[in-house]
Amino acid sequence: MPRLAIIGGTGIYDPSMLNGLKEHKVVTEYGEIDVITGHCCGEDIVFMNRHGKGHALPPHRVNYRGNIMALKNLGVERILATAAVGSLNPEMGPGSFVLCDQFMDFTKSRPQTFYEDGQKGVVHIDMTEPYCAELRNTIYEAACSEDIPVIQGGTYVCTEGPRFETPAEIRMYRQLGGDLVGMTGVPEVVLAREAEICYATVAVVTNYAAGIAREPLTHAEVLVAMRESSERFRKLILAFVKR
Ligand code: HPA
Repeated sequence: MPRLAIIGGTGIYDPSMLNGLKEHKVVTEYGEIDVITGHCCGEDIVFMNRHGKGHALPPHRVNYRGNIMALKNLGVERILATAAVGSLNPEMGPGSFVLCDQFMDFTKSRPQTFYEDGQKGVVHIDMTEPYCAELRNTIYEAACSEDIPVIQGGTYVCTEGPRFETPAEIRMYRQLGGDLVGMTGVPEVVLAREAEICYATVAVVTNYAAGIAREPLTHAEVLVAMRESSERFRKLILAFVKR
């Protein structure tokens, strides 16, 4: 049974760091989910494209519950999630890797819980430490061992998308204490906690956020920036899996 999963976000679609790749469909009560299994350094690993095959689903339509339930059903105990983000913080420039330690949720239309209608009980999970500190530390140590700079801690602001933000929104998020902005971190992190799976996010900064960047943002620019970071990212994953 695979104990580790990697959720590939925008620009991280390539599981070729794993050997013996096999595609599977996992049936969940939230729908069928495609995953790829493989192994690396003696460990069985699941790779999941957050946005589905071919990046078909926009952030507000990602099947977050199906994705996390599929990983739970496969026996996954730890998830390393990746996320392309814009930066609000001058100390987290494009190309930075950041291990998120807090989030703020500005999403609007997404199912946020496995405990929707109270039939499985009324559940309020604790979010004091939303990302797994132990997993974060292990990733951090792996990065240090390979001299890959990683920033330990950052507040991720999740917006609904699929549009990018206005400069006024970005100013507000910054005043509230946000460091990074993305569209997919919530409810994934919440559902992982409900499913009792350790979860950490490595955010890859692709751009300064709207109004901080001088030019208007494009998705193509995000993809190009992710491609530029992908080799370093692959090294980080390998260093982490070896631990
Ligand atoms: N905003 C929201 N999501 C993003 C951004 C951004 O600037 N960059 C990459 N994902």
